[in-house]
Amino acid sequence: MGYVGPGLLERLRRSSPDAVLVGVDTGYFAHCLTGVTIFPEARLDLQYFADLRKPPENLLEGVDTVVHLAAISNDPMGDRFKEVTHDINFQASIELAKKAKAAGVSRFVFASSCSVYGFAEGEARNEQAPLNPLTAYAKSKIGMEEELNKLADESFVVTCLRFATACGASDRLRLDLVLNDFVAGAIASRQITVLSDGTPWRPLIHVKDMALAIDWAIHRDSDNEGAFLALNSGSNGWNYQVRDLAEAVAEIIPGVDVSINKDAPADKRSYQVDFGLYEKLAPDHQPQMTLKTAIEDLAERLEFMKFNDGDFRNSQLIRLKVISEHCEQGRLNSRLEWQ
Ligand SMILES: NC(=O)c1ccc[n+]([C@@H]2O[C@H](COP(=O)([O-])OP(=O)(O)OC[C@H]3O[C@@H](n4cnc5c(N)ncnc54)[C@H](O)[C@@H]3O)[C@@H](O)[C@H]2O)c1
Repeated sequence: MGYVGPGLLERLRRSSPDAVLVGVDTGYFAHCLTGVTIFPEARLDLQYFADLRKPPENLLEGVDTVVHLAAISNDPMGDRFKEVTHDINFQASIELAKKAKAAGVSRFVFASSCSVYGFAEGEARNEQAPLNPLTAYAKSKIGMEEELNKLADESFVVTCLRFATACGASDRLRLDLVLNDFVAGAIASRQITVLSDGTPWRPLIHVKDMALAIDWAIHRDSDNEGAFLALNSGSNGWNYQVRDLAEAVAEIIPGVDVSINKDAPADKRSYQVDFGLYEKLAPDHQPQMTLKTAIEDLAERLEFMKFNDGDFRNSQLIRLKVISEHCEQGRLNSRLEWQ
């Protein structure tokens, strides 16, 4: 019930029409729907509203495959809720994986992140490159990968997809992602405000292409590729510098000013990523979207929503804002448990 989930459901419902699809989510952002025509989880056969830290009994009975998306999903939330990030993204997540293996689940797909490369100047990082996780969020992803590696065997095939930064329209849109922020600024106020000096490198992937990669991972050939795989997921053509993204948006949406903060301190996250292995292993599941179609598609969704909030960086479309408001109103406690 987050940003990536709805597009994944749409894809799996089409690619595996007979599969029984079960969702589990505590629903922090369940109400944050954006320009939908149907409730996204209506595509599921069953939806549990549950906290991963206290999963329902029998959740995994009869399940073949787990796609693990649930997480405290970015650095700003991870910085504010360090322990909770560790508890959910690592502790409860690895418990889930252990229970899944014990229950006879044969495939486990984990949404990892390219942020494990941290600040990495110079050439593009492949899967063998040293890791430099700088934040609680990135550390939780690496911790999971290491533990999952120990669990993987021919009966429990694990794929950790190190996704580039996501972008694009979704039924629960997030605007705390770089390209989405630029498109939202362009639509709402004809202004793109780049908070950095524009030089950091940031590989991107469209949410639809994330769903494609997950679908590949569910069915991948583990006999040849091994029981455990940690794989950069994105494409070499989508390594962009932040200023190039801003300029691309300004080219497509007319009348937009771009302001770059030339005095900004160096961004802690900058890396180019080598997606060659993913290209080799998944030639039929390569990203399909172009930067232009991603921008146009998102602009269309925002227009359909009649989006015009120039103050969107303080809105319900920013994950940390929603969580903070839940806490301020006493709906969640400091451990992010529903009250
Ligand atoms: N969006 C990106 O740029 C990106 C990039 C790389 C990896 N990822 C990973 O992909 C996954 C999905 O990302 P997203 O953008 O959809 O994030 P999101 O924040 O929109 O969605 C995460 C979902 O997890 C749920 N959740 C959180 N804690 C939970 C708990 N304790 N129990 C049950 N549910 C819980 C939330 O309610 C939310 O619906 C995450 O693991 C994220 O780290 C995302």
